[in-house]
Amino acid sequence: MDCMVLQGGRRLTGEVSISGAKNAALPILASILLGKGTSTLTSVPAVRDVLTMSKVLTHLGASVEARGDRYTITLPGVASCQAPYELVKTMRASVLALGPLLARWGEAIVALPGGCAIGARPINLHLAALEKMGAEIRIEHGNVHACVRGRLKSARINFDIPTVTGTENVMMAASLAEGTTVLENAASEPEVSDLASFLIKRGARISGAGTDVITIDGVPELRGADHEIVPDRVETGTYLIAGAITGGEVRVVRCRPDHCDALLAKLQEAGVALKVEKEAIQVRAGGPLRAVDVKTLPYPGFPTDMQAQMMALMALARGSSVITETVFESRFLHVLELQRMGADIRIEGNHSVVTGVERLSGAPVMASDLRASACLILAGLAAEGETRVSRVYHLDRGYERLDAKLAGLGAQVRREAERV
Ligand code: UD1
Repeated sequence: MDCMVLQGGRRLTGEVSISGAKNAALPILASILLGKGTSTLTSVPAVRDVLTMSKVLTHLGASVEARGDRYTITLPGVASCQAPYELVKTMRASVLALGPLLARWGEAIVALPGGCAIGARPINLHLAALEKMGAEIRIEHGNVHACVRGRLKSARINFDIPTVTGTENVMMAASLAEGTTVLENAASEPEVSDLASFLIKRGARISGAGTDVITIDGVPELRGADHEIVPDRVETGTYLIAGAITGGEVRVVRCRPDHCDALLAKLQEAGVALKVEKEAIQVRAGGPLRAVDVKTLPYPGFPTDMQAQMMALMALARGSSVITETVFESRFLHVLELQRMGADIRIEGNHSVVTGVERLSGAPVMASDLRASACLILAGLAAEGETRVSRVYHLDRGYERLDAKLAGLGAQVRREAERV
């Protein structure tokens, strides 16, 4: 297991290029199971979750040829309808195989995702929607076993909560269902829209993606298509905060500023100077950082995937900020680690009250999940002395070459095998 060792206190400067979004690449890869033919995907991020999804696809019968960020994938047919536990247990998003397998091949056996560091994360809404579309679903031996005779049928689905992967799973399944399916209270995240664009290129008939009502007219089959994955808005936000927290000047390029509105508004409110262009954002630390309150919400609200990183910034702002997590139930695991670095944070239910301190001090800390790891890296960049972040495999799940990209901006960072 590797850890990341940072010497804090260096101003980051320069340019960093954003990779394709992990959370768009994963459903797009899973959607390959919806039909035969060859698709070519570009800007596929080199992160571990994408490799895991490729392994799931290969296991199910696809041939995946990866050259840098370009993936050529052919599905001659499926060799199996079962996504094995060994692969699924490392990545909850494997559940995205469920909708496509069921809709195209009539059967899907996917290991039920287990517990997760940031809360229960059930998939009841995915299953209820697929059942409404005519699937028979049972849970057996730790697997979700879903089957349908013939095609799925259309339905009007009103999600209790706008679930991102739930919307994606059902949208994929509905692409091949008989009739018109309407998804209400659907997730409107840019990654849902990116998946819809890919499906439309393949012949799907989808309208309304990017809003909370998505309408899908089922078609009998989909073909292959070429597609470039949308830039990662969480990676974008993480580098913007890296610039701001180190008092630096960083230009984040090949990004989609229009997908980052809620974060950009909060950074500006906190006193961070931003210059926004069409596909780039320049961040420059202005005067002192001001505390701002943040509440996570489904898109276009402030993303839960940026909550931990924003907290690192607020730990060094003037005044107190209240950070409220409304999407996941226990997503404050980074707080204890930030406290070890000298942050003044109090948790009250789903609120964290962060009172800014003059400085953080480097310390050995442990990453608990993907975005919590990013928060600790950011804190380490700004802290005095050495910070050693262990369990960086969490980071490798979702950030492409984070250490190299940070080093390119002047950070003193190295990866080491963890001492035991
Ligand atoms: C996706 C993202 C993740 C992000 C999250 C919220 C991917 C691969 N992952 O996760 O990075 O943090 O959206 O933006 O895209 N819920 C239920 N029942 C369900 C499904 C969800 O109760 O069947 C609840 C969850 O527990 C959570 C909320 O709905 O409280 C939102 O979760 P959801 O949008 O489903 O998150 P994911 O799709 O798992």
